[in-house]
Amino acid sequence: MALMTWTAEQYGTNVAFADEEHQVLFDLLNTLYDRATNGAARADVGESLDALIAYVVDHFAHEEKEMQAKGFAGYDAHKAEHDALVSTCADLQTKFHAGEADVTEDVGQMVKSWLDDHIPKFDKAYGPTLS
Ligand code: FEO
Repeated sequence: MALMTWTAEQYGTNVAFADEEHQVLFDLLNTLYDRATNGAARADVGESLDALIAYVVDHFAHEEKEMQAKGFAGYDAHKAEHDALVSTCADLQTKFHAGEADVTEDVGQMVKSWLDDHIPKFDKAYGPTLS
């Protein structure tokens, strides 16, 4: 079963690019979670982890560019949230590839919890400015 399912009610921002990118992000997270919790080869888990983190970094940069272009007042707090997750992900990525950490059920749940908090609280807030 998928870890995350996108619905407009729960995650819709009223900003087309963000809603599209969030759905891709959920798909990448679901693939990583499935591989990590179903005994996939470590190389395949690593490939999914790298793909997810690369996409998250690009998505955050896209949102930040659009918020800055529109002079969104919540930019600084929003960017701080992004930076904190990227830092956590980069640390995990380094440790995974060094053989010092694994992608576990808890990792999947941590990212899900972060998105469940961030999208409704932070991303939906830019809707009126960016749409
Ligand atoms: Fe869609 Fe602020 O991340």
